[in-house]
Amino acid sequence: MKIFITGAGGLVGRALVEHCAENGDEVVACDRASLDISDRNRVDELVSKVSPQAVINCAAWTDVDGCESDVVRSDAANALGPENLARASRNVGALFITISTDYVFDGVKEGFYTQRDNPNPLSVYAKSKLAGERRSQLQHARTIVVRTGFIFGVGGKNFLSTIVERVRRGERAKAISDAWGTPTYADDLAFRLRELAGLDLPGVFHVVSSGDGASYSAFAQEAMKLAGCDESNLEVVSFDSLTRPAPRPRNSRLRCLLSEPLGLKPLPSWQDGLERFVERISQKHTKKSQFGV
Ligand SMILES: NC(=O)c1ccc[n+]([C@@H]2O[C@H](COP(=O)([O-])OP(=O)(O)OC[C@H]3O[C@@H](n4cnc5c(N)ncnc54)[C@H](OP(=O)(O)O)[C@@H]3O)[C@@H](O)[C@H]2O)c1
Repeated sequence: MKIFITGAGGLVGRALVEHCAENGDEVVACDRASLDISDRNRVDELVSKVSPQAVINCAAWTDVDGCESDVVRSDAANALGPENLARASRNVGALFITISTDYVFDGVKEGFYTQRDNPNPLSVYAKSKLAGERRSQLQHARTIVVRTGFIFGVGGKNFLSTIVERVRRGERAKAISDAWGTPTYADDLAFRLRELAGLDLPGVFHVVSSGDGASYSAFAQEAMKLAGCDESNLEVVSFDSLTRPAPRPRNSRLRCLLSEPLGLKPLPSWQDGLERFVERISQKHTKKSQFGV
């Protein structure tokens, strides 16, 4: 399959480029330097030049607290960007897949959020991501929205690498014990994104690693145990004790209503992903991606 991937320099983008290349796909990957997805003309130009069968958008401005004080930049990257890509995909007859977030939900529900639950985003970031979902779907019927959350993997900044790095430097790190999500291994998410590209079935999918989810602290403790870090440097704190610019959902665990009926196998558990992740970083295994059109 000829696949155009944006945000290829990010956590998920890197994993996806690697997975698709290993899968034998023809991959055209753009990081932010080669394509700013909020630039409509450039998006049109590149997508029509490449004429892919699928466009998969991994680009987003993911600084949740930063978005809170810059609505314009948040909307440009997270709402206008996907809309531009969706329109360009429609114009060349390509499937469009864009990644969204568990933060579109307000976290008030107990249990798991499914596609039957109404989004109610709390932060500027989450509002712009929901707008990105909707504006993409309006532009192009052949759009797949993949909501995910709590991603960990090689490269890029994420909750897990930040905590492990801090603790390894002998600093104290904080993790919340009373907020829950469904941790998701970037490599497994990449696998499912490619599978969905093959399936070509428009709709909203919730894609997370298997299991009942975890609190941030339980997840961090498990990671530190596997990475051989001193867990006593991890300070367990409550959700209400952290004052951060952007509000976040207390519970954002996801479950998919569609995957099983469609015959998609559950992804491996987050614990299994964590083991593979820790093994990979311990081997200092880094693969370079190719960027540019
Ligand atoms: N990480 C999580 O836990 C999580 C949870 C739920 C959903 N998601 C979603 O998953 C997707 C992938 O996130 P990620 O974790 O891979 O984030 P990431 O590591 O921050 O990667 C996002 C990439 O997009 C690039 N980017 C930002 N603005 C752009 C623009 N206007 N045009 C083109 N590229 C731009 C960033 O470049 P710069 O670094 O140069 O800005 C970065 O390389 C996003 O849609 C995100 O909202 C992530």
